[in-house]
Amino acid sequence: MIAIFDSGYGGLTVFKPIIHLLPQYDYLYLGDSARTPYGAHSPENIKHFSEEAVEYLFSHGAKLIIFACNTASSVALCHVQQKYLKEKNEKERKILGVLIPVAEEVSKITKSNRVGVIGTSATINSNVYETEIHKINPNIKVHQKACPLLVPLIEEDWHKKPEAISILKKYLKPIKSTNIDTLILGCTHYPLMIKDIKRIMGKKITVVPSGEITAKSLENYLSRHSEIEQKLSKNRKRKFFTTDNPEKFKIFTEKHFGMKIPLPQKVELKG
Ligand code: DGL
Repeated sequence: MIAIFDSGYGGLTVFKPIIHLLPQYDYLYLGDSARTPYGAHSPENIKHFSEEAVEYLFSHGAKLIIFACNTASSVALCHVQQKYLKEKNEKERKILGVLIPVAEEVSKITKSNRVGVIGTSATINSNVYETEIHKINPNIKVHQKACPLLVPLIEEDWHKKPEAISILKKYLKPIKSTNIDTLILGCTHYPLMIKDIKRIMGKKITVVPSGEITAKSLENYLSRHSEIEQKLSKNRKRKFFTTDNPEKFKIFTEKHFGMKIPLPQKVELKG
């Protein structure tokens, strides 16, 4: 089974393109909505939440976990890979993130070598996007902006309200003025505001969400790693787990993602 992990509903922007491209596998989606936004937490807390998620997902049959959450990918991915894979010499399970495929893609897209990143405070403070982009091309100038109010607005389904658009404009103004030609949506939730983001940034700026890129990167990974691919069950099953209100999760998913889903199972991650 492939597990997609996010701090809330936002990871569905990664889940949807993945199941579209690779429908044959069984999937489990875990959204830790009870503790969202992760982006406002300390790195220690984010690592702790991520450990609990990994333990839960591995104990529920996941062979491959995708950290859809940019915040968890930025702050905790290396830590959980070290703790649950390397230290245990684990060869049959894998944990992957979203940042490296996105960094590779934008390095190909930018013509002016000026790239912007918007994300949660934890993602921006980690500076991981800049680090990964500079491993590929140190000449790319990376302009970053934390947008901490966007995730709570989206989780509350307030993101289409004029107040939300006005906050979005305030966040984007300084990053637009840096003359970037490519903008990374460094948070799973932001594609839910992509139309407004594109309109505010203007036609000359390519806006890059992580969902499709992660899906293609996963397809490529599975084609190169038959030892993992062969372990994945292929019955087209989809399970949804949430740490908060299952009804709210279902309503949000059906409204914003056009997917009919069974009522998610409410789970407790705290050990
Ligand atoms: N899903 C997280 C991310 O992609 C954002 C939400 C949060 O802060 O919990 O960064």
